[in-house]
Amino acid sequence: MVYVGLAEMRVKLVAGNWKMNGNLASSQALIKAILPPLSALNRARYAVCAPFPYLAAVGQALRGSSVALGAQDLSQFEDGAYTGGVSGAMLADCGCTHVIVGHSERRNVFGEGDAIVAQKYAQAVKHGLIPILCVGETLSERESGVTEAVVARQIDAVIQRCGIAALGRGVVAYEPVWAIGTGRTASPQQAQAVHAFIRGRVVAADRRLAETLLILYGGSVKAGNAAELFAMADVDGGLIGGASLVADEFVAICSAAQGAKETVKT
Ligand code: PGA
Repeated sequence: MVYVGLAEMRVKLVAGNWKMNGNLASSQALIKAILPPLSALNRARYAVCAPFPYLAAVGQALRGSSVALGAQDLSQFEDGAYTGGVSGAMLADCGCTHVIVGHSERRNVFGEGDAIVAQKYAQAVKHGLIPILCVGETLSERESGVTEAVVARQIDAVIQRCGIAALGRGVVAYEPVWAIGTGRTASPQQAQAVHAFIRGRVVAADRRLAETLLILYGGSVKAGNAAELFAMADVDGGLIGGASLVADEFVAICSAAQGAKETVKT
């Protein structure tokens, strides 16, 4: 099922996830390269999620622009004796407006389960940050037919802990684990099917919220496939890893988001 009632209210968002790449100089060079072309685009929103040590410098470079600053993770705790932790309050203090929560690399490499992800989501909302909640199945989960069950479990964990209204304060990113960094993108139809499932699941709790909720797709999005993904009715933009490190690629993907809004409307 496709929910298009309030689809036109959904302004697309493209967020770059730089992951643990680059250095201070390359981060600044990347911002310098993408800002002029992105400033000319005004029908979608953009964000870059930089590594913690570069947030302040990247935020400085973005100042006055329409590109938002995001982090890639935050602590599930408020403050105190949590060596190495970075709190939601600290991120807000550094000028972040967005933060990725529950990326599959955090879940699978760092062992963060649904409960921790939900705690992090709560911290993000508490500190006025827009959490980008990542959900998605592994290849073996897809092959064994439990994609919807996995995604439902990941979303429900957040709804149960934080409440449905809190889900409306964030953005969901569907990122099939098998498509991340592999060059193997979900087809537009595969992405649309899961996005529609996610929206349908949220409809059951709050229809209006579901219709305005942004659901991004992530996993090997490139300049060459962005437009067809973003043209799908329930795909409201993208979370971009590798391609966000290449200025021309990222700008082309952002341009595709701007064009795709028209496609959805017609
Ligand atoms: P990718 O990563 O675009 O390199 O596949 C996406 C992500 O992990 O957010």
